[in-house]
Amino acid sequence: MEPTELGPSTYNDCFNAKKYLEDYYSMDPETKPMCSDVRFVITTLHRIFSSGLIKGETMIELGAGPVIYHILSACDTFKKIYLTDYFDGNLRQIEKWLKKENNAFDWTPYMQYVCDLEGNRCTPEEKGEKIRSKVTLLKSDVTLANPLEPVSLPKVDFVMIGACLTCACKNEEEFTASLKNIVSLIKPGGYLFIEDCLEASYYIVGDIKFSVLSLKEEMVRRAVVKAGCAIDEFEIFRDSQDSVTRDDFDRESVFCLLAHKLRK
Ligand SMILES: C[S@@+](CC[C@H](N)C(=O)[O-])C[C@H]1O[C@@H](n2cnc3c(N)ncnc32)[C@H](O)[C@@H]1O
Repeated sequence: MEPTELGPSTYNDCFNAKKYLEDYYSMDPETKPMCSDVRFVITTLHRIFSSGLIKGETMIELGAGPVIYHILSACDTFKKIYLTDYFDGNLRQIEKWLKKENNAFDWTPYMQYVCDLEGNRCTPEEKGEKIRSKVTLLKSDVTLANPLEPVSLPKVDFVMIGACLTCACKNEEEFTASLKNIVSLIKPGGYLFIEDCLEASYYIVGDIKFSVLSLKEEMVRRAVVKAGCAIDEFEIFRDSQDSVTRDDFDRESVFCLLAHKLRK
């Protein structure tokens, strides 16, 4: 199986959002627990949001794909949440969930997991309704100076991006430039959260092998600082005992980075 070209256009041509959800996010109580990488990201976001450090009215997620798990802790903090992606087919999967369509992906186990972490102060159903009342879907392209073009929003309090920059950027130069584009959406003093993999070259969805930019920790740190941010934390998680095998996704580790935009 030959890997695809790196870069956004591949996603319009080749990405199967439904298959991606099945392969990477479906769970079965008997046979398929939550992927340990995802558990790491969820618990990190829970810790960050329960600390009260991040506050504000509005957040944006870039490259959200067909996925909503990144906002399960953030949804209590913000009044307005923009979930964005390059590929319409991904946004359509989220729309199905927002509208409770019959074949929408079931995020209940993820909701339950976060509700348990939060001490069950609300039910998964209540969390789902809260998210539905706050989310707006938009197109995005992180390689553009304004990644939300043609939409222009006032600067926001928080921007997150998960497993997207390694798919959208071909090299360190593009990675650095895209990060600058992303940070331009944040208010001075606002926060940036990045979740992605280190030292990967591909992941597989169905019978398509998607190329991934192989990142190193130092490359990420350099780009975040060049984009005008100070890094607050950089957590790395390695787990070889995973339900998604290395044949599907050859990452060495997964990281979560939190940074704030410097006031100039
Ligand atoms: C591996 S998927 C990650 C999806 C989701 N964030 C997750 O964590 O599972 C990569 C995502 O990046 C999106 N993407 C690729 N290039 C992009 C670009 N230039 N701008 C915005 N999104 C992009 C793809 O459409 C896809 O949804």
